[in-house]
Amino acid sequence: MARVLSGIQPSGDLHLGNYLGALRQWVARQSVDDAYYCIVDLHALTQAIDPAELRRRTLETAAGFLAAGLDPEQVTIFAQSHVPAHTRLAWLLECTATMGELNRMTQFKDKGRGNESVRVGLFTYPVLMAADILAYDASHVPVGEDQRQHLELTRDLATRFNHHYGEVFVVPEATIPQVAARVMDLQQPDRKMSKSIPSPLGRIDLFEDADAIAKKVKKAVTDAEGIVAYDPIAKPGVSSLLDLLAAATNGSPMDLAGNYTRYGDLKNDVAEALISLIAPMRERYLGLLGDEAELRALLARGAEKANTVANATYERAASAIGLLER
Ligand code: TYM
Repeated sequence: MARVLSGIQPSGDLHLGNYLGALRQWVARQSVDDAYYCIVDLHALTQAIDPAELRRRTLETAAGFLAAGLDPEQVTIFAQSHVPAHTRLAWLLECTATMGELNRMTQFKDKGRGNESVRVGLFTYPVLMAADILAYDASHVPVGEDQRQHLELTRDLATRFNHHYGEVFVVPEATIPQVAARVMDLQQPDRKMSKSIPSPLGRIDLFEDADAIAKKVKKAVTDAEGIVAYDPIAKPGVSSLLDLLAAATNGSPMDLAGNYTRYGDLKNDVAEALISLIAPMRERYLGLLGDEAELRALLARGAEKANTVANATYERAASAIGLLER
């Protein structure tokens, strides 16, 4: 059984990119992996978020995990802040990471570079992510394409630590899906779909209703050429629609392109496929949201198990680096 860890920030509604890039893989492998799935609430603090909203979104994300099909009998679901070993380990790793390597993180360059008022946490964020992963001895980390560089940093930090202080950490690998590893914004098809882009028309939220999905797909930006072909560089809008159709129907975007001559027909089929994918999850989600006590209990159970594993790794790392045992 592979030990797996991954996480999602509760900084906004879960969207189709989170599902196709990450959650769907988690669900597909839950009966074969020994998996820990974390709601990374501490990472959500790296950008402004209202306290009540953060609390609400943490519970909503837990409901979203279940609605997407995760089974808490098979995987451990927990909130990052409920396991203090993550931040304790992050400090040890911060003291081995360099400014240079964090400066090279493209996500930081995009979101904060050159801005004096950017939060320090946004800069050190990838080290906390490394701690999330290394605390569980995870060998595999199922994520979307945008997290690849963070995984490389995690591997570098783990390898360096092991080199200096002995074999403490498992060096993990990213598992990135073949299709839809980078779901694009429907309005700006050269940018990834993201919680933080304020373009509700560009993003399909995971539990959206059928009318909203149909409207957004219909308005998706294409081009003036009028030819359906799969070419992500020259035709990013049309290619992204083909990617979505392929992901929702387990097809290949190249093959699917051959079935269409008109953008309108392609859009109709994309909308229909996404609605069929999302409708059952939406129904489960709406049902789960009402039971806050159950969601809190789920996270409490998860935290208990996660603490046992993560504390042991922290103690191993702390001892290796020279901190006096209590
Ligand atoms: P986050 O919350 O931005 O995204 C959660 C997961 O969804 C994937 N994803 C996408 N996949 C395809 N297309 C998209 N447009 C898209 N947008 C998001 C992400 O790749 C990710 O797998 N730093 C992480 C959270 C994190 C984490 C971790 C992940 C913290 N600790 C430890 C793995 C392991 C993040 O901000 O993901």
